[in-house]
Amino acid sequence: MTSLRNFADGGKLVGEITVSSRTDGEVAIIEINSPPVNALGNAVRRGIFDNLAEALADEEIEAIVLTGKGGFFSGGADITEFGKPVSDPILSDLIMAIEAAEKPVVAAINGTALGGGLEVALGCHYRLAPRNARLGLPEVKLGLLPGAGGTQRLPRLVGPVAALAPIVSGTPLSGDEAEALGVIDQLTGSDVVKDATEYAREVKDKRPLRRLSEDNSKLKAVDMEAFENEAARLLSRSRGLAGPKACVQSVRNALSMPFAEASAEERTMFKELREGDESKAQRHLFFAERQALKLPGVGREVRPREVNRVAVIGAGTMGGGIAMSLALGGYDVVLIDVNPENLEKGLATIEKNFRRTQARGGLTGAEVDAALARIKGATSLAETADTEMVIEAVFENMNLKKKIFSELDKIVKPGTILATNTSTLNINEIAAVTSRPEDVMGMHFFSPANVMKLLENVRCEKTSPDVLVTANLVGRRAGKIPVTVGVCDGFVGNRMLYARARQVEALLQGGASPARLDAAAKNFGFAMGPCAVGDLSGLDIGYAVRQESGRRSPVADAIAELGRYGQKTGAGYFLYEEGSRTPIPDPFVDDLIAKVAEKEGVERRELSDEEIVERLVFSLINEGARILAEGIAARSSDIDLIYINGYGFPVAKGGPMYFADQVGLAKVAERLDHYAKISGDETLIPATLLKDLASSGGTFGSWSASGGQ
Ligand code: 3HC
Repeated sequence: MTSLRNFADGGKLVGEITVSSRTDGEVAIIEINSPPVNALGNAVRRGIFDNLAEALADEEIEAIVLTGKGGFFSGGADITEFGKPVSDPILSDLIMAIEAAEKPVVAAINGTALGGGLEVALGCHYRLAPRNARLGLPEVKLGLLPGAGGTQRLPRLVGPVAALAPIVSGTPLSGDEAEALGVIDQLTGSDVVKDATEYAREVKDKRPLRRLSEDNSKLKAVDMEAFENEAARLLSRSRGLAGPKACVQSVRNALSMPFAEASAEERTMFKELREGDESKAQRHLFFAERQALKLPGVGREVRPREVNRVAVIGAGTMGGGIAMSLALGGYDVVLIDVNPENLEKGLATIEKNFRRTQARGGLTGAEVDAALARIKGATSLAETADTEMVIEAVFENMNLKKKIFSELDKIVKPGTILATNTSTLNINEIAAVTSRPEDVMGMHFFSPANVMKLLENVRCEKTSPDVLVTANLVGRRAGKIPVTVGVCDGFVGNRMLYARARQVEALLQGGASPARLDAAAKNFGFAMGPCAVGDLSGLDIGYAVRQESGRRSPVADAIAELGRYGQKTGAGYFLYEEGSRTPIPDPFVDDLIAKVAEKEGVERRELSDEEIVERLVFSLINEGARILAEGIAARSSDIDLIYINGYGFPVAKGGPMYFADQVGLAKVAERLDHYAKISGDETLIPATLLKDLASSGGTFGSWSASGGQ
């Protein structure tokens, strides 16, 4: 018989019961119950410690199962407690206490064990999990390294080379993968606790107990060349961030120091990183991602509509990428193109791209097969009749889009969401041609849509809240980071980019070469410089848009007019060798720019790196401030997410608005004012919101948190 006991009496726990125990015969089952993710805050750590002590003291108990409620073993250390007082036991002491227990402790990983959660499981003597579990050490994504023994116990369990990828990339393993790697001892069925309890009974008399901290067998005879190669491979993808480097160093320490010493060093590195700017910026982004899903004025009572089948219209690069993401997210997709040849080509490209990802190890063959089986091709809009969502991704032409939407209006069933992937057109106008503008919105994916994480979900004048909630959910399932924005020219991301493009043009005319400009931007931390980005996306696109809108960009126009469209023509701002993406500075372009500047009457001068970077970055911030004031973005952290996930803004700096808050808005406003005066560019005059916040000592973050008051 299972009896319920909890050891939270005697004043040990204050407030809610976060950890409780019950017994099943000679097995004690300790359960963490601290929604939403069973994070290991002060009360939870104390609760596990006390329940463990009780179970160890109880003579009738011979083995212990540790588990969590609600689909989570544990989501790790409580990030909201970082920087606040920590009470005993600290996490590493708790894990040592579990490992030192004289009775076997079995981790029943019922779902997710991340960060400190997995470190707790590694302190247990055995680990069991179902196939669909998620086990990982994602601390690196918060700018940290595992700080409670993860970099010491995992290498002892699976070997240091195999331990590197989960620690340095932070990508979680499925139950299957964890079993293959040796992280778990056995896969379970769906009743994880029942299986773990049986397992605990089987191993209750086994001695000695397996204590990973004492087992150095996998640390001997390590192939150091393989270790360093793997470390270098992983670090080459980490854009110079401090967290991944610390992860590698700490695993390396496991090879050269005793457990206690290397663990102490791990803890020191963890604390240093936790207090550093990079981790603070990455934690800001973690919370920003969750915050972005909360739409102002839209409560939890607004439920998403049910979506199973999605139509994507247009089998070009964009439509194909969107279809791939949706299929990977588990949606049935019908890809529609009225031109059968385009459709064939689009479907073939999808298969080719999927197989390429498979060959690189990004997806398994079974995952690719399943995703491909979910995508069907069609040549008629009539196929949208039994879909719950339609995403139109044809080329940017208002009349064509209006025609498609008015046809869709006649075909789709009531409640089907009609989304357009436009990046430039006024979606309110498109919505107005339908009889159901409340179901119409924008879903602005970024190219290549199967790779890029950002999704701007565009709220039109009449879009119903449940449509937006649904689009956020669909976006999340499709692996995207959705951010809701309002209608304006360029929405949030491109509108800010126009402001920066203006500075790129002015800086080129004013004296900086493309190579100089890009080097300064990369030095700041951008993944690519603005000129190389232009060459990558194609200079003909911006040129065509400017031609239509009557805008001018003399340098960019002159380059495009020579047929130099960027990488695809082997030349743009830079030159490109056949098959290479490396930009090579071109003296011809430097000359061309000097001539354009002369024609425009611009006096060229020596520009400092500081001026280049400030004008590139502060112009983004200034436009961001206008966007906030207009309510086009609900909060400054939404803008940060957009720039990090869609525009290569350095993760370590947390996004433009967060960065502005760190620099200090008074300084940002003062510099913008200065550049506005010396350049005569009125767009650089500090935005009203920026000026107001600067003079009152405010920040974008606190202004947003107060609801923009
Ligand atoms: N601490 C505090 N709060 C957390 C948390 C954590 N570790 N993990 C999640 N939360 C909060 C979220 O902020 C969110 O709060 P909200 O409802 O107020 O917005 C809520 O829990 C639910 O989170 P999600 O919306 O993300 O829920 P999902 O079900 O989609 O995902 C998850 C759950 C996979 C656990 C995801 O939240 C996640 O990845 N969490 C972070 C995991 C992590 O990085 N752990 C390592 C922490 S650092 C550490 O352990 C240090 C150690 O080595 C010493």
